[in-house]
Amino acid sequence: MDKLCLLLSLLLLGAFGFVNGGKSKEKKVFKVEVIELKTGNISAKFTNYGASVMSIIVPDKNGKPGDIVLGYDSTDAYKNDETYFGNVVGRVANRIRDGRFSLNGKEYQLRPHENGKHLLHGGHGALADAIWEVKKVKKDVADPTVLFSYDSPDGEEGFPGEVKITVRYLLRPDNRLRVTMKAKAIKQATPLNLVQHTYWNLGNHDSGDILSEELQLFANQITPIDNERIPTGKLEPVKGTPYDFLESRVIGSRINQLPGGYDINYVIEGPDDPIRMKKTAIVKDPRTGRVMKLTSNQPGMQFYTGNLLKDVKGKGGVIYKAHAGLCLLTQGFPDAVHHPNFPSIIVSPGKPYKHKMQFKFKIASDKDNKSDGKKSDAKKSDKS
Ligand SMILES: *[C@@H]1O[C@H](CO)[C@@H](O)[C@H](O)[C@H]1NC(C)=O
Ligand SMILES: *[C@@H]1O[C@H](CO)[C@@H](O)[C@H](O)[C@H]1NC(C)=O
Repeated sequence: MDKLCLLLSLLLLGAFGFVNGGKSKEKKVFKVEVIELKTGNISAKFTNYGASVMSIIVPDKNGKPGDIVLGYDSTDAYKNDETYFGNVVGRVANRIRDGRFSLNGKEYQLRPHENGKHLLHGGHGALADAIWEVKKVKKDVADPTVLFSYDSPDGEEGFPGEVKITVRYLLRPDNRLRVTMKAKAIKQATPLNLVQHTYWNLGNHDSGDILSEELQLFANQITPIDNERIPTGKLEPVKGTPYDFLESRVIGSRINQLPGGYDINYVIEGPDDPIRMKKTAIVKDPRTGRVMKLTSNQPGMQFYTGNLLKDVKGKGGVIYKAHAGLCLLTQGFPDAVHHPNFPSIIVSPGKPYKHKMQFKFKIASDKDNKSDGKKSDAKKSDKS
């Protein structure tokens, strides 16, 4: 190791907070694992690299199982990934303007990396690239589960205070995936906004693009962004715009009116009550008949159509191109640290963080096709 390298390592150690008040703190090292869970007709693979979802397999309308998330076959590939496939992202997902914020009268400079300016997704080498501890695995039960944990040290990527984070994945035999992300600030208040960054393609991960899938969002408003992709602080109604998914719509129908595709935070309807699970999104894939219903307790959801995917070599050698998958990232609002009118993302020792999501998979039935509005209403009145 040459001197520059050694110096850099020492600087990094300092920046990551391993050297704590003069006392060096041993950081536990874990090996990368893959955990497979199965129940009923659903099975899934997870890895503790980034606490990630690697695959989810559910039947299509003919009973044929298929993998509906984008990803890689080997955990090694996750180390070189730049798409955040299936990762848990944080400490603060999305962008923080200029990579800085102030909290309780103190200014914090983060380690910005987007154009050397804004902080994106908590910084590189953060949660998505950490090897989490596999705390608990329960297989051979009706509701199999895996629990990952990660202790983010004081000062990681410039964020104040130590935070202990857990992510639990649980499968249910009626084709549900439940995700619970919890965090506790140990001594100091700090911003926190985790997302689960799975890319979905209900037509199977290798079926091409998601443009023919239908989407309904329970959101009347978005938080519009400026030309650096950071919220202006305003809320804007979606009705009548290309962002309008108040009724189920084909995703590709108006995507060409937006530069690159969808990448925006929606304001999910309903009370901002962390206890309540709210209807968030419904996706339907006409090719396979699969339906996914998402509920969550979060105030926002980033809808992203994989605009930046560019010839990514994924599972089975499949090449993922733009729009090969879609992300429904339940979250607090982006750049909330700079917008007092947005729901607060500050956690503190007395105010822990709990983010819940449920993904329910099924096959389209008459009831699900009701959003075709008049057609099914007509059917109903025929019957009566
Ligand atoms: C699982 O698959 C079998 C065979 O296709 C089907 O009969 C059963 O209803 C499915 N169970 C659920 C919960 O979807
Ligand atoms: C509902 O729509 C899906 C396509 O979105 C189709 O595959 C399915 O057959 C429809 N179901 C009924 C009962 O019409």
